[in-house]
Amino acid sequence: MRLTNTENRFGIISVLFHWVFALAVITLLGTGIYMVGLSYYSPWYHPMPKFHQQLGIATIIIFALRAMWHFIHKQPKIKTKKRWEKGAAKAAHHLMLLLSAGILISGYIMVSVEVEFIEWFQFQLPTLTFDIENQADLAGFWHKYLAYGLIGIISVHVLAALKHQFIDKDRILQKIFGL
Ligand code: HEM
Ligand code: HEM
Repeated sequence: MRLTNTENRFGIISVLFHWVFALAVITLLGTGIYMVGLSYYSPWYHPMPKFHQQLGIATIIIFALRAMWHFIHKQPKIKTKKRWEKGAAKAAHHLMLLLSAGILISGYIMVSVEVEFIEWFQFQLPTLTFDIENQADLAGFWHKYLAYGLIGIISVHVLAALKHQFIDKDRILQKIFGL
């Protein structure tokens, strides 16, 4: 297996970026939805948002590297003869990256309010504040609805991958594992 992509295959770098990022995003969606429904008396009321925030900030770093790699390095050809499917797959990939960026940035803006700095493990990160009265509410609104939009596109992405694997039998899952 190669490090970099070829015309028909993903290399190790793209495979690792895809799966590490996918795992992080799915965990953030799960913990995000779970934690906003917790009662104050739940033992998870404080640790779950803390975990969400720590993982979220780590995901900003993964995202920056992953998005850069996606756009500067060549992508293998999408294996389908139908032009509309190629276009739809590309659009879905770009939309997933775009929505992820919006969710990550709005999350950071949300936790920037009323604190001097953002604690991330032993680091003190700068806050991102604007001269807007309801900054946290506005960022929270976008964070929530972009996350629901992302769930929709990820569902289409996964269903399309399963359709290609099991109905068209074009070994697409082997491809995203670099095989
Ligand atoms: C269980 C979940 C997932 C499965 C089975 C899956 C499957 C795949 C497959 C088969 C491809 C290759 C498409 C091709 O080139 O023909 C792909 C590419 C891609 N997927 Fe996923 N995916 C999953 C989750 C996600 C998630 C959660 C995201 C982002 C939030 C994502 C974003 C992308 C992107 C941007 C590409 C384009 C190639 C790249 O930059 O790595 N995927 N995925
Ligand atoms: C791709 C990355 C992320 C995803 C998919 C995600 C997903 C979610 C979801 C689904 C919710 C629940 C929304 C609701 O129903 O109100 C949520 C809430 C929240 N997220 Fe994220 N999140 C991500 C990144 C981040 C980051 C980077 C931060 C901060 C640095 C963050 C901070 C928060 C906070 C503070 C809440 C609670 C909002 C409230 O109490 O209304 N998230 N997130």
